[in-house]
Amino acid sequence: MKGMVTTQILEVDPSAIAAEIIYRAADVIQAGGLVAFPTETVYGLGANALNAIAVRRIFTAKDRPAHDPLIVHLASSQGLPGVVATVPDVAWRLAEHFWPGPLTLVLPRASVIPDEVTAGGPTVAVRVPAHPVAQALLEASGVPIAAPSANRFGRLSPTRASDVLADLAGRVEIILDAGATFVGVESTVLSLVEDPPVILRPGGVSRESLMTILGNVSVREHERLPVQRSPGMLDQHYAPRARLILFRGEHTAVLQAIQREAERFDKAQQRVGVLVATEDLAAFEGRPWMALAPGPFTDLDMVAHRLFTTLRALDAAGVDVILARDFGAAGLGLAIRDRLTRAAGGQIITA
Ligand code: TXA
Ligand code: MG
Repeated sequence: MKGMVTTQILEVDPSAIAAEIIYRAADVIQAGGLVAFPTETVYGLGANALNAIAVRRIFTAKDRPAHDPLIVHLASSQGLPGVVATVPDVAWRLAEHFWPGPLTLVLPRASVIPDEVTAGGPTVAVRVPAHPVAQALLEASGVPIAAPSANRFGRLSPTRASDVLADLAGRVEIILDAGATFVGVESTVLSLVEDPPVILRPGGVSRESLMTILGNVSVREHERLPVQRSPGMLDQHYAPRARLILFRGEHTAVLQAIQREAERFDKAQQRVGVLVATEDLAAFEGRPWMALAPGPFTDLDMVAHRLFTTLRALDAAGVDVILARDFGAAGLGLAIRDRLTRAAGGQIITA
């Protein structure tokens, strides 16, 4: 690729942040370079959001199509009036409850935000991340930072610095390595330009907790979503290398269907991986296929936290097909379902 750079990985202890490392990274941001940094959800690939040329480099590094808009990250909600045209009351109320945190608000853009960030659209997506390293970088940089997840386009989002390196070595100046991220799935993207507000992408803040502030909140079904609206909703997003099939329905029926399909693929000489809950693992003991669980069904925080790492582990084991169970729609289940549905690219079996 043209414009290859040397990638430096700088370790940062999130509980004792070395100021000198943050200033080095902030210098890169101010000079129009790229820094990958941890947020509480996933690692982001950051550039100065007010510098169109720097923002263009994000798209090149990720091989991301220019029509997919980016999230602008702020150090605090005080920066909100600087990046959006108007701040409705409801945005302040949401900011008060959920920021810093994994909630992204879509609002009318301010004119200082370049077209590169919004894909030329009239709105901008904004959030205040809760990770101390992200906070420190935003404060030291003194500018809003545009950052998509730090993966190549269409791949799984990175939850560890090594995941970023695997996708973006030679394409980013600095990777700030603060270990695994906390939430593990991306932020909830909520459109406030529609009334009532609409969840464009389920994520780290559940629909239920948004409803405590907003009353009703609808969820945009990605099958019906026009491509231009939120292209992160395209099929085959967040995809592992292996083909993935998602199983939905009643629990026992789902486990039986997974067993049946696993046997079928096994007979066809396909290496099978299974992604289920910890409680389900006993049902797969002594079988030739690799069964992994990101966590128990009773702890969806854990399942979300380890979802992408588990998919990567199955990929690394070289399986040809991943048979995954659904984790319901309550709480973080909706975000987990969304990511597995996208990874399945439409291959869903209802048991
Ligand atoms: O947790 C996260 O949100 C992570 C961390 C790094 O902050 N970021 C992230 O960014 O997941 P990205 O670019 O991978 O996903 C952002 C999503 C995409 O689906 C994009 O289409 C949508 O937000 N989006 C961004 N701006 C938008 C806008 N103005 N209107 C509607 N959707 C927008
Ligand atoms: Mg992404």
